[in-house]
Amino acid sequence: MAGDQDGLFFVIEGIDGCGKSTQIKQLGEYFRLKGRQVHVTCEPTDGHVGVLIRKMLSGEVKVDQRTIATLFAADRTDHLMNEENGIRNKVDKGQVVLCDRYYFSSYAYHAQHVDMDWVIRVNSMNAEILKPDATLFIDVDPDTCFKRLQRGRAHLEMYEKIDIMNQVRLSYFEAFERLKDQETVRVIDGNGEIEQVQKRIRKAVDEIMALTLKKV
Ligand code: TYD
Repeated sequence: MAGDQDGLFFVIEGIDGCGKSTQIKQLGEYFRLKGRQVHVTCEPTDGHVGVLIRKMLSGEVKVDQRTIATLFAADRTDHLMNEENGIRNKVDKGQVVLCDRYYFSSYAYHAQHVDMDWVIRVNSMNAEILKPDATLFIDVDPDTCFKRLQRGRAHLEMYEKIDIMNQVRLSYFEAFERLKDQETVRVIDGNGEIEQVQKRIRKAVDEIMALTLKKV
């Protein structure tokens, strides 16, 4: 049925360990049950730039923070525009695209090292190409996230330290405030059972769809 329906682009954001990947899968099911064609994707991507970024995050390749911020923006442009499975094209064709992280991740994470306005400027072309219908921020206590990560991983990546996670969370809120006139953002309480959090996400999505008058 894709084609007769409005394409949708929802982004799930949150600090590491907040449960984004579980929640995004379940949100995908929600749209599929409504008969929609759904594409679930994430950033960094598994394309050429994304693979390089992963090496930098793991410490395998040393890098300047401005370089990594610029690479994330380039990975995003490729994610939007590449001919094979670019997001822009899918949304234009009426699909529902759900993305685990997008430019607010850049604003929050890279602001630890470089000026946030600079990161916003570096991503301005991406914002012109495609703004999310909404960004859903899953807000979970950083202590809880940190404990989950410690349980699941042998060693943690560049940003997976408790003080950084606290700072990143605050930077997300700073970015939401700075861009409140340009972006639709919903903060979802991400503490509690998975099902409970998913219910909150679906409620927020329904509300946004009603507001934007988009057809489910
Ligand atoms: P994450 O979604 O946590 O990947 P994983 O599947 O390994 O859990 O993303 C990896 C890291 O990349 C995460 O610490 C946040 C960071 N990141 C940035 O610093 N800038 C960005 O623009 C994006 C998209 C992610």
